[in-house]
Amino acid sequence: CMIELTGEKIMVEPHVLVFPFPLQGHVTTMLRLADAISNAGLRLTFLNTDYNHALLDRFSASHHRLSRRPRFRFISIPDGLPEDNPRTMRNFVELEESLRTRSLEFYKKVLRDDGDGWPPVSCVLVDGLMPFAMDAAQELGIPAIVFRTISGACIWAYLCIPRLVEAAEFPFPEKADWDDPINCVPGMEGYLRRRDLPGFFRHTSAAGEKLIRIVGDVTADSLRARGGIILNTSEHLEGPILSHIRSLFPLTYAVGPLHALSASVTSFSASGSLWAEDRSAILWLDAQPDRSVVYVSFGSIAELSTAQFLEFWHGFVDSGHRFLWVLRPGLVAGWERAPPEVDRVKMVSWVPQEEVLRHRAVGCFLTHCGWNSTLESLVAGIPMVCWPLLADQQINSRLVGEVWRVGIDMKDIYSREAVERAVKAAMEGETAEALRRAAAEMAVEVGRSVEDGGCARLEFEKLIRDISALGS
Ligand code: UDX
Repeated sequence: CMIELTGEKIMVEPHVLVFPFPLQGHVTTMLRLADAISNAGLRLTFLNTDYNHALLDRFSASHHRLSRRPRFRFISIPDGLPEDNPRTMRNFVELEESLRTRSLEFYKKVLRDDGDGWPPVSCVLVDGLMPFAMDAAQELGIPAIVFRTISGACIWAYLCIPRLVEAAEFPFPEKADWDDPINCVPGMEGYLRRRDLPGFFRHTSAAGEKLIRIVGDVTADSLRARGGIILNTSEHLEGPILSHIRSLFPLTYAVGPLHALSASVTSFSASGSLWAEDRSAILWLDAQPDRSVVYVSFGSIAELSTAQFLEFWHGFVDSGHRFLWVLRPGLVAGWERAPPEVDRVKMVSWVPQEEVLRHRAVGCFLTHCGWNSTLESLVAGIPMVCWPLLADQQINSRLVGEVWRVGIDMKDIYSREAVERAVKAAMEGETAEALRRAAAEMAVEVGRSVEDGGCARLEFEKLIRDISALGS
């Protein structure tokens, strides 16, 4: 990249600053992107909050990464919250506000500072949940590229909020039938139902309506990013939806699944976990027969009620199958009692999920359909049983169940009988066989898309060329 100095053009080495929103699902994904970019030979600064950086240092292979990546450095800034703040999704508003107000000056200082012998930042790659970070960089003359962790389908649904309002589909009409088709989201006609719209659409209160408008505005704010938008998806997975997104965002880079792309270009996959991983889960899996275990996880932010937890528990036990269940602290709100011990059910607090999904003993994944988990399951070729809870998860599970047909979408149902039925269907008999075949074929295709000449790899290469040219 070049800058002009008193009429004379001089070459400046490209230097990308990557700034994720400080929650687990965001940090992990942007670290994968950062690894891939740095591997392409670009200087890269990964900006963490102090709080998350301490966790990452403790639980992940960050030092390992640093030693392999001489052009990669971590910098951290305060998030402005007191030490004892839980910093979970529940505190999203507080966390976002604190970053926007109290962290902003620290962030700008990093942008201005070219100390340590590093070249000035030539481009920022910021989480789309923080439009302020995009604007602050661009005000300083540094072009921004926005990154969103969610599916293309979810982004597109958010961008279609004005159409949904115009078609009187939002707010949901009174006595709405949630199985009605939604025809005003172009590209998703034929399979999108009211119940598949992102979870935020379900809030009917005034506060809920306000929230969805904020979500829509934040998404539309990304249009101001001079460098375009990066999505953790691919032409292969969401081609028709991407062509609609590109009608608004011509510069859309579909470079996912990022964990597969990153592993393919770097030949290693470093963990970005902020929590300690319990490796006893792998030892337990080692002792189980092939494809005999249902792996269960609801991701890093979802919460279950005690009633939901118990229905799942009984459904699992009644199905007769083996389960590896991630019971993250805080998953079951307000319930600390340990569930009864059953040999066939192994409970752990946090696992190395990609490794679990690759394990020969895993037969299917009962998931909340967070986008990272969905992509990790697709790459591993593991059929899913989907039980989405919030945000993008409802629309993701529709892709799994109806578009790619690599899983069973349980959406909105959680009785023990329904859990038992869904698990049996995904593990036994003809349906399970068909799902396994479809998931295996999908894994091959997705694998190809990140290799040389694949659609995601080509877009990633374009991204690197464009980042290098930004500012010239
Ligand atoms: C949320 C949203 O649900 C998701 O759609 C959005 O893209 C990011 O924010 P989360 O609910 O945590 O994320 O789900 P998900 O996107 O699936 O991310 C969870 C991550 O945690 C995955 O990368 C998964 O591998 C990891 N994980 C989960 C572990 O490493 N260990 C575990 O035990 C469970």
